Amino acid sequence: MGDKGIRDLTHGKPDGVAILDFGGQYCHLIARRIREMKVYSEIMPCDVSPNEISSLEEIMNVKGIILSGSPSSINLQSSLRVSEEVFEIGLPILGLCYGHQLIAHVFGGVVKRGEKREYGATEVLVDSAVGLLKDMDPVEKVWMSHGDIVLSLPRDFQVLAHTENAPVAAFRHQSIPIYGIQWHPEVAHTEKGAEMLRNFVIGICGCQPNWVPEDIIERAVEEIKSVVGDSRAIIAYSGGVDSSVATALAAKALGERLVAVHVDHGFMRKDESKRVLAAFRDFEINLNVVDARERFLQRIHGLTDPEDKRKIIGEEFIRVFESEARNSGADYLIQGTIYPDRIESGFREHSDRIKTHHNVGGIPFNIDFKAVVEPLRDLYKDEVRALGLQLGLPQSIVRKQPFPGPGLAVRIIGEVTSEKLEILRHADSIVCEEIGKSDIRNSAWQWFAVLTGSRSTGVKGDERAYGYTVAIRIVESLDGMTANFCRAPWEDLERISTRITNEVPEVSRVVYDVTHKPPATIEWE
Ligand code: XMP
Repeated sequence: MGDKGIRDLTHGKPDGVAILDFGGQYCHLIARRIREMKVYSEIMPCDVSPNEISSLEEIMNVKGIILSGSPSSINLQSSLRVSEEVFEIGLPILGLCYGHQLIAHVFGGVVKRGEKREYGATEVLVDSAVGLLKDMDPVEKVWMSHGDIVLSLPRDFQVLAHTENAPVAAFRHQSIPIYGIQWHPEVAHTEKGAEMLRNFVIGICGCQPNWVPEDIIERAVEEIKSVVGDSRAIIAYSGGVDSSVATALAAKALGERLVAVHVDHGFMRKDESKRVLAAFRDFEINLNVVDARERFLQRIHGLTDPEDKRKIIGEEFIRVFESEARNSGADYLIQGTIYPDRIESGFREHSDRIKTHHNVGGIPFNIDFKAVVEPLRDLYKDEVRALGLQLGLPQSIVRKQPFPGPGLAVRIIGEVTSEKLEILRHADSIVCEEIGKSDIRNSAWQWFAVLTGSRSTGVKGDERAYGYTVAIRIVESLDGMTANFCRAPWEDLERISTRITNEVPEVSRVVYDVTHKPPATIEWE
């Protein structure tokens, strides 16, 4: 896969780089950062032959190769490798994380399990600010996510940077343009990541920023028209940013032949379905609202495993959509799935399944639709928001915080019951009300309550209380792929905690989640 759809050949063949995909979570982000530089890129499987890389010349002037990260380890027998002939093509090569370790290994360096794993923000000490690290300061803040480290390099290689735990955090070959860095420059948390990638793509590979993306709206509308043809389609409308933008696009493409379906699965936040219906007034298409609360609760009754819950909810959504489609004579389903939904569901070969996003991995094999159309499948949330504004959607929709498809069911640890749903809905409404009044709402990506599986002893009005523990999660993020917990003001947290323990009788303790992503994910399940 790649950015094929948004390549503009009317401006001649663009310069570009090939990204070899070893299954790392951030592989697509590398392509995104490169397209932000107006340089074309194509993601290819890691086991491509040099000939296959050369065949990219039909669509771009191939100027360099990037080897992505991976969940694998070099020292495993089964680890992913690259054809060594790729190093003989003569193009500049940059290895990121696993790619960095792989290059060191191929050239005879030593890669070992590190004594300490490095996850998250790390300070890297730059030994030589040259090549890829040109113009970098002696200490740079970067984003790491690895267990293995490069211990030593063969002759001909030079160490460019190190950290407290990794003696070789960046290197270059002394005579050919081959570079490796242990960290992830593609992740927004690496402060000068864009400059580092620019040093490689423009500085070392010599790419000209000559790629002009085609109009995404036009492309998406054309795609929906060509797949659905003269038939009818339904669109899954949850009321969130993604489904609203997808609905606006599908409405442009199909007009009267589109029916939006909003499923109330009973795992919504307080008054969410009412707000969703109010927002729908902006669209001039038909809407069916399905009250499926009982049905969903019964289907997940007794389930405690998060992945089981996610899969069953995803499947149930499809079953509801199928019967709605039959009622309205529709053959196609349109969904607002975005790129991170797909990547975390492990849709690519070699990538790990982090969690099954309900609108991807939850789709059963036997579905009663001619096709499922996902016009936003290659975009990140911030790109979808920009598209929403371009399409004229109101700020109240475009700026809405993300909400997972399986809703509160994945914010209740373990079994979901109607009693727990009521408790969580109540606690969450307090978090939303308080953050809604605070300045944090302008910088935070998401804020919500989680009903943890643990109970604890408290004292309320001189009496022993043995109640639920609620966790508050407030995170900052650019695209949901990585996130930082928010350094929320104590006063806001205190107000939230006091209100929850006073107003929700079943809760005796409130805790604040201070974990970044990675290593945690944003949602608890
Ligand atoms: P995680 O928990 O994977 O979440 O760090 C990243 C972002 O994705 C949202 N999320 C989902 N969105 N369907 C969705 O449409 C899902 O099944 C789903 N699960 C998580 C999550 O709220 C966060 O913004």
